[in-house]
Amino acid sequence: MPVTLVVGGQWGDEGKAKIIDYLARDADVVVRYQGGANAGHTVVVGAERFAFHLVPSGILYPRVTCVLGGGMVIDPVALVREIDGLVARGVDVGGRIRVSAQAHLVMPYHIRLDHASEERKGEGCIGTTGKGIAPAYADKAAREGVRMADLQRKSADLEALVRERVREKNRLLRAMGVPGVSARRVVADLFAARRRLLPLISDTRPFLWDALEHGRDVLCEGAQGSLLDIDHGTYPFVTSSSPSAGGAAIGTGLPPSAFKRVIGIFKAYCTRVGNGPFPSEDMGSDGNLLRELGNEYGTTTGRPRRCGWFDAVAARTSVRLNGITDIALTKLDVLDAFAHIKVCTAYRVGQRELDYFPADVADLDGVKPYYERFPGWKTPSVARTSMPPRAMAYVRALEERASSRIALVSLGPERSAIVQVRRARKSNGGARRRPSA
Ligand code: GDP
Ligand code: IMO
Ligand code: MG
Repeated sequence: MPVTLVVGGQWGDEGKAKIIDYLARDADVVVRYQGGANAGHTVVVGAERFAFHLVPSGILYPRVTCVLGGGMVIDPVALVREIDGLVARGVDVGGRIRVSAQAHLVMPYHIRLDHASEERKGEGCIGTTGKGIAPAYADKAAREGVRMADLQRKSADLEALVRERVREKNRLLRAMGVPGVSARRVVADLFAARRRLLPLISDTRPFLWDALEHGRDVLCEGAQGSLLDIDHGTYPFVTSSSPSAGGAAIGTGLPPSAFKRVIGIFKAYCTRVGNGPFPSEDMGSDGNLLRELGNEYGTTTGRPRRCGWFDAVAARTSVRLNGITDIALTKLDVLDAFAHIKVCTAYRVGQRELDYFPADVADLDGVKPYYERFPGWKTPSVARTSMPPRAMAYVRALEERASSRIALVSLGPERSAIVQVRRARKSNGGARRRPSA
């Protein structure tokens, strides 16, 4: 059974969790491979709405084991809170959550450093979620992190390690003009969380390898999106991990050859939260309408999301970067009200036309999006199982412009509001550039 990878194709919030939840009905294991509590993954089941930040979005199915992979950065206190919140809502998580010993911890000083760094940047700030993500990954790269494995050490050793880290970081915080954190408090909170988390921590790689070898259905859940990737996104306006497909092997320990099916999640339009380039952004009434109809406010921070039109240039780049075998197109219902719908199919820089997403954001300076216009269908979606011909024509046009087949179309937040418009491919069978008719 090949591993299925779900990646965000745009700037995050594409509706990944909705699709993970849909696919997880047949899964045995769902594993998150990167990011931390910067993610906000929403699943709607009937009248209930769940917002996941650290726990994989497959947890609502009793047979699914959820793994928090080694590529993640995990705030232990936030994880305990999230698990308790699920239990309080009647979700039986017993024995179904595994946390990689390789995952790094997000500590209170990371959160404070995140805020301090944003404040220092002022106008030029990234617009982070303030969850301590960049400082935690920076410590990982500098080999100064605290890992889940450290929670398994003797209490005295762990305490000494944490106190040492706090001392160093407080020096840094004070140099930035910010008060340090209380070592006593950090240790107390961490030890309280540790009591709860210790039974969940293990080397999750053998578990995943066994699952793979025994033909279990394994689903990998990406957070954020390809255009926020630390290497391939709009650097420096990115997150600090690798949401794109390459990150899944690193962040789980599953071999790259295991990923045969890569489902790219794209909204039928585009959003971005935080700063940085967004060529197809619409600052006018259409952008506002997309925000209101799509309820485009952050799941994690509540910030209004910037809105604009589907960017086929960025989408094509995402398709090639991730080796996307199928697209799941979400929030098509949000376009129901529009008389005309635009799609950015190329960028113009002076006399030049750019048909790929550049590696350097400086090359996006002065870029003008070139739009194609499509007629709207002006028919409300009520969790339909078929689509109006013009909506289907729009979907087919996106397939062509994005150079990948669209297998699933989501027409509402609820679990049932989804249509399979093409049979999902079983494996990638090599790179493809054009959808089959
Ligand atoms: P994720 O981070 O990619 O999982 O996406 P978020 O959960 O942050 O944001 C997606 C939002 O859109 C959530 O509020 C979902 O409930 C909602 N949503 C998902 N799919 C659809 C859809 O097809 N139509 C509509 N109207 N809302 C959707
Ligand atoms: P999900 O998984 C959308 C954005 C932030 C900011 C940049 C860096 O729900 O799609 P960070 O806190 O990671 O250092 O912020 O990345 N960002 C997201 N945008 N969806 C997300 O997650 C995001 N996680 C981070 O807004 O621009
Ligand atoms: Mg989100």
